[in-house]
Formats: sequence, structure tokens, C-alpha cells
Amino acid sequence: IPVDPFDLVIFGGTGDLARRKILPGLFRRFCAGQMPEGAQIIGAARTEMDDAGFRDMVAEAIREFGGGRSCEDGTLDEFLKLIGYQVVDAKGEDGWKELKARLNDGLIRAFYFSVGPSLFGDLAERLRHFGLADDDSRVVVEKPFGHDLKTARALNATLAQHFDETQIYRIDHYLGKETVQNLMAVRFGNVLFEPLWNAQYVDHIQITVAETVGVGGRGGYYDKSGAMRDMVQNHLMQLLCLIAMEPPARFEPDAVRDEKLKVIRALDPVLPHHIVRGQYDGHGVEPSYREDAGDPRSTTESFIALKCHVSNWRWAGTPFYLRTGKKLRARASEIAVVFKDAPHSIFGADAGRHRNILTIRLQPNEGMELGVTIKEPGPGGMRLVDVPLDMSFADALGPDSEEVPDAYERLIMDVIRGNQTLFMRGDEVEAAWAWTDPIIEGWQNRGEAPKPYDVGSSGPDDSLMLMHRDGRKWRDIR
Ligand code: BG6
Repeated sequence: IPVDPFDLVIFGGTGDLARRKILPGLFRRFCAGQMPEGAQIIGAARTEMDDAGFRDMVAEAIREFGGGRSCEDGTLDEFLKLIGYQVVDAKGEDGWKELKARLNDGLIRAFYFSVGPSLFGDLAERLRHFGLADDDSRVVVEKPFGHDLKTARALNATLAQHFDETQIYRIDHYLGKETVQNLMAVRFGNVLFEPLWNAQYVDHIQITVAETVGVGGRGGYYDKSGAMRDMVQNHLMQLLCLIAMEPPARFEPDAVRDEKLKVIRALDPVLPHHIVRGQYDGHGVEPSYREDAGDPRSTTESFIALKCHVSNWRWAGTPFYLRTGKKLRARASEIAVVFKDAPHSIFGADAGRHRNILTIRLQPNEGMELGVTIKEPGPGGMRLVDVPLDMSFADALGPDSEEVPDAYERLIMDVIRGNQTLFMRGDEVEAAWAWTDPIIEGWQNRGEAPKPYDVGSSGPDDSLMLMHRDGRKWRDIR
């Protein structure tokens, strides 16, 4: 669906995120025919550069980080015609009038803050002061949205001085992932799952976001954050919300976000022995976390496994196990809803123990799989086996689905459409920090160090024990 013409200003337009994600994503939307005539994309940053220089940079970024299959030769030159650049001093006066002069009257204006949070206030203030933004303009902000509850509150308050909540788009790119949206379609578009989606039928839920990359190159940021702030407080929390929330009355921004907020507020505090922190160790063969972070004594975690509970009628007694880490065995992210055993086996003990598991694979090989129990084929009597009902998106939707749109593509277009459903509201972010803060404070107070784990493993052994103690097992990372 095409969107209305817009002016998009990317502050931090020369930065890493703009080059890797935002600009290539916009280009792919252009190739898909979604970019309206009259759209304009302006990079803004401190670096001295002219339009032509920025266009060269954009072209290079697109070549490096992917244009996508559907982009024909020559499209890039057309796309570059939409691009401009303005030198702007976020903390001073320079460049703002010139930037304003580049904007078109009567078009949707979106301002993407692809910069550190310390500049959010300066940018918001100047956008208003120099008359670039009005009450219909949108601002997009990236994580990290604060470092804890206090800083997140301060950021919310600063933005609120200049913009209404309906104008603020806080990105959590996991919400833009195709499978994550599909999770809502599966839950609320089918009659099949919802009656079983509760503590009576679900034994437990596992959410795993495993990465093979380390923190090399961004150790400076990461070492102050760790996996809890970098991944759990936002991405894993959002996944948990979508799994656990009540059906919203409509697929509309506040209806969805109200339900997610209730989940976060229903989370019990995590007990210290229900959480395992880890740090990767390359044993001299590969870089260890501490080398990547540039601090030989760092106690920041690159891995987290935890058990938590959503204390409400639907989920009382059903544990949610969350796990994420860097330099693990494989890049594999999935949510597994593990259903309870059938209440009684009419086939006897020989038939074995069988369980239905609904797996939602976020990446790679996006898709869903439902494990069902059937009779083992053949004359050998009644023996049961589990087989997957597999719905890989690539298989189910044909060759076009191989190119699953990147999360950023979807989200940026939603900003232009003015649809906040897949963006975090200020109170949600604060509630997530309110749950995270005591966990981190607990480690600090107890002076706890993370457990080492081998590069290429599934994380520290203690994380296996976390499950084992409950008579359960993590699914393999593969
Ligand atoms: C980012 C984190 O938000 O998400 C990174 O800061 C992490 O540390 C990344 O690697 C993972 O995103 P994706 O889309 O590759 O799963």
C-alpha cells in the first residue's frame, strides 16, 4: 500500500544504524513501489558533507548492506534523487534554518533520532524552536531508551515537553519482524489456539534469542548495558508480552499497548536463583568478551537465562523461561509454547511421553511449527511419534516470501502512515525498566560476577540447571 508523500529527516544520517538498516530499508521500499512521488529523505549530522557526498555514502551503504532481489538496475540512481544532506549542530544554532528551508510545506514530516539518547532533548527542542516540527510531525527514537527507570522517565518527560505521545514512535525493531506480527495473527486470527492458551494447558514457555556475533566493535556501548538492558528489557520483554497478553478488542495502537502494559505490570520480581548471567570466553583461540569490551575485568553479562511468572488468572503457575546471549552455537531465535501432557494415556507406558509444542521461529527460516503426536506408521502396534506440522513462510507463501521485509522497512512506513501499534508507549518502557532495575541492582549489591561460557556453546551450565531443576529442558540451539 503506498504511503502519502513525506519529508524524512534522519539525524545521525551518517551513522551505523542509518547505513546498515534505515537507508537500505528505505531503498527496498522504493523498489517495492511504496515510496510516493515527492518523498524526500534528508540525512542530517555534524559531519561536513554535501548532497553529492551523502548520496555516494548512501549508494555504498546499499551496495554493502543489501538492496534486495526485487531492485532492478538503475533503480538506485532514481532513489538517490530523493536524498539530500544538511550539516546540523544538534547542540547549537548552525544548520537549522537551512534544514527548515529544505522541507516542503503540507507534507508529513518525520524526524528520526538515530543518535544517542543524550541528544534527544536538544533535537526535540530545536525542532520546535526553529519551527521545523508542528503538531502533526512525528519523531522516531531508537533504543536504548534510557539506562534505567530514572533515565527513561527523564527522557519521556523531555520528549513530552515538545511532542504529544501520539507523535512519538519508540522503536523496538523486534515488533517489526514478520514472524512477530504473525504471532498475533496466529493467536487472534484462529479459534484453535486461544482456548488452550493458558495455565491449564500450557506447561511452560521458552523464549530464546541466540546470536553468534559477539560485541566486537560496539564494546563501549555494550559494556555499560549488558544483555539484560540490551536485549531482555526490550526485545524479549516485547515477545513475552505478545505471547502472554489478553486479546485486545481491536488491532489498534492503544488497545494493543494497554494489554502489553498489563502483562509487564503482572510480572513478579525475579528471584536471584532464577536468573543466570554469563560471559563468553574464547580461551585464547577466539576473543573473549573482556577483550571485545576492552576491559580485562569487566563483569558485564553477554548472556542471560531467567525464569519469570506472569501473575494473573491466565498464567498463574506457568513459568516463562527467557534466554539470550552472544557468541552462542547458532543464530536461532524462537518462541516455544510447550503444552501439557495429555491427562491420561490410553496407549500405556510403552507409547512414550508426548507433548504438543508450538514453535514460532523468528530467525532464520521464519515460520511456525506445531508438533503433533500420531501413530508410528506400520504394523508394529500402537506406537506414538511426534511429527511437525510445518509452516515455513518460504514454503507456504511461495518464492516471493523468501525476501521477508526487514523490520525497519515495515516500521518506518508505519511512522509515515501514523500507525503506532508496533511502537512502544512511554508507560510500557517505564514499566519494563521498573521490572528490570531491581534485578540489576541485586547483582550489584551482591557483587555477583557472570559465569564464563565457551564461545560456540549454549551458554553456561547453570542455565541448563535452571531448567533441569524444574524437570524441564531447553530446546536445542541450532
Ligand atoms: C539490538 C541489540 O537491539 O538487537 C544487539 O542492541 C543485537 O545487541 C540486535 O545484536 C539483534 O537484532 P536481530 O534483528 O539481529 O535479532
